[in-house]
Amino acid sequence: MAAKLAVLAVVLALLGSASCQSGYGGGSPNPSPPSPTTTYPPAPSPPASPTPPASGLKVGYYDDKCPGAEAVVRDAVRVADAGIKAGLVRLFFHDCFVRGCDASVLLKPTDANPQPEMLGIPNLSLRGFEVIDAAKSVLEARCPGVVSCADIVAFAGRDASYFLSNGAIAFAMPAGRYDGDVSLASETIPNLPPPFADVTRLKAMFAAKGLDTVDMVALSGAHSIGRSHCSSFSDRLPPSATSDMDPTLAAELKANCTSATGADNTVSQDYRTPDQLDSQYYMNVISRKVLFASDAALLKSNDTRALVYAAAMAPKVWQNKFGEAMVKMGNTEVKTAANGEIRKVCGFVNNKPY
Ligand code: HEM
Ligand SMILES: *[C@@H]1O[C@H](CO)[C@@H](O)[C@H](O)[C@H]1NC(C)=O
Ligand SMILES: *[C@@H]1O[C@H](CO)[C@@H](O)[C@H](O)[C@H]1NC(C)=O
Ligand SMILES: *[C@@H]1O[C@H](CO)[C@@H](O)[C@H](O)[C@H]1NC(C)=O
Repeated sequence: MAAKLAVLAVVLALLGSASCQSGYGGGSPNPSPPSPTTTYPPAPSPPASPTPPASGLKVGYYDDKCPGAEAVVRDAVRVADAGIKAGLVRLFFHDCFVRGCDASVLLKPTDANPQPEMLGIPNLSLRGFEVIDAAKSVLEARCPGVVSCADIVAFAGRDASYFLSNGAIAFAMPAGRYDGDVSLASETIPNLPPPFADVTRLKAMFAAKGLDTVDMVALSGAHSIGRSHCSSFSDRLPPSATSDMDPTLAAELKANCTSATGADNTVSQDYRTPDQLDSQYYMNVISRKVLFASDAALLKSNDTRALVYAAAMAPKVWQNKFGEAMVKMGNTEVKTAANGEIRKVCGFVNNKPY
């Protein structure tokens, strides 16, 4: 116990310096509002004190505009299976990182726009669209033209986190986002980090969205749920000469990725608790039992390594931080009535030919 506390003290000291660093990789197009809780871990305190919302967003935004709106989304998420729930957490991330949290990820191909985001290469295995559509159709019947698809994506990501953590990750999600009308496959690769990204690149790509290293490491814990296609990490399997993946896991993945038909199989992100959003991810990083080079990279710089150990040792602190970082991610380049709309159907913009 004393030894554990000593390690924690070292980790806290490291974090003190890490959290004072400013943004990486140059300009940040969407600086987040100053947060009163930039130290991590914060004192053990009541759950979920969210970062101040971006301009215009507010907790309980639909309370008077469409009472029960958040409950409609939660009910739609509740009945989805664990894999779809994981997909909803990822959908929110992909939406926010490409053109801001504006539901651009939901727009389907049309004659006018044959290559939307959902056809970009990093979209591989995006799932959960039908949950968003189900919630939207109930909400349109109840309060037509009121609840944006961007907010439904944000609520669904929050609710999926809640269910997959058995209620341990519970936080309020500010709302009031409008939906965008531009969606381009060509914008996915420049904005979404690839699975082979090193730590410098990861920091820079998150900083470009107003998210710091603490947020980045906390959000990476989402790789404790869901699945991946083998093609996303096959370069790390035997006979790779450079991979630092645990050899036992690598051999097992190699077997599970072998397919007689040449199909791109899928495997669980977290070999131990695949359907739980939990801090097991950080144990996996430490024991080198993670799929992507971008996961393994978190051990390769002092600040991210300290954050990985802190999250592994103090799951509650990580759970709170995860919620805060989701809220902060939800502030990314949010649209307003001036440059957005409330879509009638989430797959298509209003009043445009398609
Ligand atoms: C740090 C940079 C990140 C990289 C490089 C990355 C990359 C990936 C890749 C390659 C996959 C597998 C896709 C496939 O082959 O099927 C994946 C899955 C997933 N990612 Fe990430 N990701 C990152 C951050 C995040 C963040 C911030 C979140 C959410 C907060 C997230 C949530 C997920 C989830 C839940 C899955 C599983 C999805 C499913 O089962 O449908 N990831 N990620
Ligand atoms: C993702 O993109 C691929 C390739 O462009 C496409 O075949 C696939 O249908 C897309 N996936 C989704 C969920 O839209
Ligand atoms: C490999 O597949 C087996 C059989 O489906 C499964 O039990 C095991 O968890 C998988 N292992 C990994 C690491 O994906
Ligand atoms: C990382 O930590 C090690 C050991 O504490 C130290 O020697 C090294 O200078 C640190 N590197 C950086 C870039 O701070």
